[in-house]
Amino acid sequence: MMNFLNISDLSIQDLNGILEQAKMMKNARVGLPKGAYDEGQPLSQHIVALVFEKPSTRTRTSFDVGVRQLGGQPILLSGAEMQLGQGETISDTARVLSRYVDLIMLRTFECQTLYEMAKYSTVPVINGLTNESHPCQIMADIMTFEEKRGSIQGKKVVWFGDGNNVFNSFFQAAEKFGFSLVFSGPKELEPAKDLCRQAKKLDIDFKIDRDPISAITDADLVATDTWLSMHDNPEAKKIKYNQLKPFQINEELMSRANEEALFMHCLPAHRDEEATSDVMDGKNSVIFDEAENRLHVQKAIMRWCLSK
Ligand code: CP
Repeated sequence: MMNFLNISDLSIQDLNGILEQAKMMKNARVGLPKGAYDEGQPLSQHIVALVFEKPSTRTRTSFDVGVRQLGGQPILLSGAEMQLGQGETISDTARVLSRYVDLIMLRTFECQTLYEMAKYSTVPVINGLTNESHPCQIMADIMTFEEKRGSIQGKKVVWFGDGNNVFNSFFQAAEKFGFSLVFSGPKELEPAKDLCRQAKKLDIDFKIDRDPISAITDADLVATDTWLSMHDNPEAKKIKYNQLKPFQINEELMSRANEEALFMHCLPAHRDEEATSDVMDGKNSVIFDEAENRLHVQKAIMRWCLSK
């Protein structure tokens, strides 16, 4: 039994195996209606609990559809409507859910909640986003890059804006997949104080560059996210927006990247804030491919968790 909690927990062989399987399953579905089963129904007779303590469109729909395509049965649970929202402990919830279902996907706030669920669950647990990480998103992003441009190894990825949970998973992926990573955002929103030291220790080609033009030069992949995350205090909005304004991705900035550079955003977006609509809908944007690939890669992740 294997959990999928962080990209850093998996070997590159397992990560590449998941991507390969996702590509194969995606290709095998070409022309099929969305509700058709995948060949062999690999999750037949399996029940998957999808637990959400935060809002979601992509994660919720893609996991639900993915379980059904694999021949399994999803149960969508909202944290607020569970006893979890009334004070039942995570450890008790984990042990109870494990008696009913074969796999648990959890979207929650603190990463400690996810780790507690994994510790007490006797079935695999998948990270559907915490305040600290979003590994399913980054697996979909790497799949998308490699579909369009080939191997991501040695490429230059530039992250603009807030050093948030999505950035953290890019950082972990940089170590595993061997791409270089640049963070271009305000000092106040740097992901961690000792990131450069951590990168050195992990042999990650990482740098912080607060000049957006120099940061984006030679970029193969340009990515950003909303300036206000789900767990942010809305009162912080004005301060954060003023800090982040210089890091907006617009056509002028994007034109400084490699001509073939892809633009990614995990969505939902606040259009014309972190990125302008002309970039989001431009020829280099792959935002809807990323969203689609959440489905394919998560199906491969579920199969990986249950195959071990
Ligand atoms: N990118 C992402 O996780 O989207 P949702 O919040 O809609 O699930």
